[in-house]
Amino acid sequence: MAYGKARLASGDRPIYNRAKKGGRGVDACRGFPAADGPWLVPPRFSVRATEDFDMNSEQRAVTVPQFTALKAAGRKITMLTAYDYATAKLVDAAGIEGILVGDSLSMVVQGHANTLPVTLEEMIYHAGMVGRAVRHALLVVDMPFPSFHLGAYRAIENAGRILKETRCQAVKLEGGLEQADVIAGLVSAGIPVMAHCGLRPQSVHQLGGYGVQRDEQRLLADALAAQQAGAFGIVLECIPAAAAARITAELRIPTIGIGAGAGCDGQILVYHDLLGLTPGRLPRHAKPYAELHRAVLDAVTRFRDDVRQGNFPGPEQTLE
Ligand code: KIV
Repeated sequence: MAYGKARLASGDRPIYNRAKKGGRGVDACRGFPAADGPWLVPPRFSVRATEDFDMNSEQRAVTVPQFTALKAAGRKITMLTAYDYATAKLVDAAGIEGILVGDSLSMVVQGHANTLPVTLEEMIYHAGMVGRAVRHALLVVDMPFPSFHLGAYRAIENAGRILKETRCQAVKLEGGLEQADVIAGLVSAGIPVMAHCGLRPQSVHQLGGYGVQRDEQRLLADALAAQQAGAFGIVLECIPAAAAARITAELRIPTIGIGAGAGCDGQILVYHDLLGLTPGRLPRHAKPYAELHRAVLDAVTRFRDDVRQGNFPGPEQTLE
């Protein structure tokens, strides 16, 4: 059977259907299993990249309300960044609940020193590629600097373009209290917003670097203001673990930590950090689950040597 046409084996029902029928699922989150239940949606259901898939369909396995409901269901949430089609397909197939086209692409893909240079056009270009790959995860796209700093009107215009042109479901923006009006404006336009509090890399010059943010009162005020304005989730970046756990306990909406300890409702990592793709010093909060820069360097070096020594192409790669 062709991969693209794969279907469920008979009698093998998707878990979300079982849950909907009142099995061990949680009603409030429409099909998400309880904490002791099986996986949210097994990867084999999430990779429904059928050849007849309608690219214009907005059908997705994880919706914004379902994502938010994972907190009440006591399920830890996983998110990863992705910036292109091939990467997004892999991340999505692994069953990650949320994919972020982060403005970190300015650094890890474009090679800039910080996240300030990436433009709205470039974010849309990359988010378009990711959107064409994602079938399962909630797809969130970062609003780059300064696409939301000129008031709610301009923010709606820019976020509207992101939603219309990329198949994403939500935007993320840096800020809490001082961006509450913008968040409320976007939400009133039907645009789901994930807020980003703690270390805000777009404010690197104002903050004077990428240090840990320790003003707990300010952090809590930011998080509560974002929730009040209608955000459906909040990224907490580089804050002490105890503060992040207390903020998480105060909020109805999920917190997604990066350098914010295990007490958050979920965790996000930059794809390149997770795979060890970038040699050199990693941020302390990042855990490399592979050392792909070594594997890539090794493969490319072996190819170079094979060609130089006349070993590639060999008989198997030669056409008669
Ligand atoms: O741009 C990004 O990658 C991010 C995350 C790391 C949270 O904002």
